[in-house]
Amino acid sequence: MVEKVLFSKEQIDSKINSIAIKLDNYIKNLPKEEQKDVVLLGLLNGCIHFVSDLTRKMKGDHKLYFLKATSYINNKQGKLTISGEIPSFNNMHVIILDDICDTGKTLKTLVEKVNEEKPRSVKTCVLLDKKIDNKEFNVDYKAFEVEDLFVYGYGLDYNGYKRNLSDIRVLEEK
Ligand code: IMP
Ligand code: MG
Repeated sequence: MVEKVLFSKEQIDSKINSIAIKLDNYIKNLPKEEQKDVVLLGLLNGCIHFVSDLTRKMKGDHKLYFLKATSYINNKQGKLTISGEIPSFNNMHVIILDDICDTGKTLKTLVEKVNEEKPRSVKTCVLLDKKIDNKEFNVDYKAFEVEDLFVYGYGLDYNGYKRNLSDIRVLEEK
């Protein structure tokens, strides 16, 4: 197997610029009095670089929270666990940020949980959206689409490692 760069640091940066503009436009189009009620909710650990880079490019005001969502064990999908304190999202416009939407199970569950808090709206935004059949959830905003491959880097891990890479990589047959 050989390691191949799927998306370079420059490609990621440019896509994140576009997503920041889209989210800012979304915020700008909310009723004026609700524009202060925006909350971004990052799902750790994979979202770290995405959230850090994206939010620093955004001009729209927002609060920022994190929850931890774990579902992968040794590259295999396992039971989804969500940990951390869910703040009050009552009457807020919540935007959930994650590294990747694979089956969509994580985001579907998170949206249900957030909705229990009676927010005004919930949107989802991911860095990568995997093209798979029978997706359980469709995201509102995505930076890239990827084939059904295991990818890592820029926050996404490979057995806990490689989150520190500045690009996104994939292992390919030689
Ligand atoms: P889902 O619930 O199937 O959509 O899985 C979403 C979670 O699985 C993501 O938040 C990632 O943490 C993890 N995940 C899914 N695919 C990959 C991958 O290719 N590389 C690294 N992590 C992944
Ligand atoms: Mg995750």
